[in-house]
Amino acid sequence: MAKKKTILDLRRMAAEGEKIVYLTGYDYLTAKYEERAGVDMILVGDSLGNVVLGYDTTYPVTMEDMLIHCKAVRRGAPNTFIVGDMPFMSYQVSDEEAVRNAGLFCKEARMDCVKLEGMTDACLSRIKAINDAGMLVMGHIGLTPQFGAQMGGNRAQGKSCEAAMKLVEAAKKIEEAGACAILVEGVPAVVGKAITERAGIPILGIGAGSYTHGQLLIYADMVGYFDDFTPKFVKKYGNVGGELLKAFTSYCEEVRSGAFPVDAEHTYKIDPAEAEALEKALQG
Ligand code: KIV
Repeated sequence: MAKKKTILDLRRMAAEGEKIVYLTGYDYLTAKYEERAGVDMILVGDSLGNVVLGYDTTYPVTMEDMLIHCKAVRRGAPNTFIVGDMPFMSYQVSDEEAVRNAGLFCKEARMDCVKLEGMTDACLSRIKAINDAGMLVMGHIGLTPQFGAQMGGNRAQGKSCEAAMKLVEAAKKIEEAGACAILVEGVPAVVGKAITERAGIPILGIGAGSYTHGQLLIYADMVGYFDDFTPKFVKKYGNVGGELLKAFTSYCEEVRSGAFPVDAEHTYKIDPAEAEALEKALQG
């Protein structure tokens, strides 16, 4: 089994051009397979609101939801660098609340790092406060669903020179505030490249082109499981939804027809003498 990566490993990989593999995960079982496959990092994203809890945005996700899922992922992937995503209103109000909630991610759920969205002055202050408290914090810029209302929906960002320059400048400020890495989401590849080339910390991309130090995808998108919507940048590596549908449909058919579970392979045996005694006992 590969040794668990630390932030030093991730920095070295970025410096040496070794791509960092990053996937979201929300539960014990999936995390176990991700660790087995050798992913470098797992994000327990607040996208669990969409993917697991069935909300149409990430706004309703709570700290309690996040901690339950982070703990499950930690149990499934004890040797993987895991990032806990700070949900809406867990860091927006004050530095103190942000530090307290980041502490819960690290202390209770044993996360290696927390992530927070945004590039406002308040976000920079939260990043500095969490870093000053001794925790690793990852920034997240570009398409940031917790700012979805202000962005007018979850749409690609940095598509004009002015907007792109704002992202490049924000990335520098986030690094200076003490972030250990930055996730850049939903921007043209040239913007991902400009941010990466100027960064002194690992830059992870999701829908940000091929130049970033690493790539993130939402696991349920890339395995063909979540199908409510599929962002343009998702490549499908499997058809888990199709496989589930096939298995569930066959099960429905076999239970209804009585084909399952008649076979000896799927039923417990009883000693013939005990069966006979039972038969007699039942007859009274
Ligand atoms: O919540 C999440 O999974 C994320 C990614 C979509 C970037 O933040």
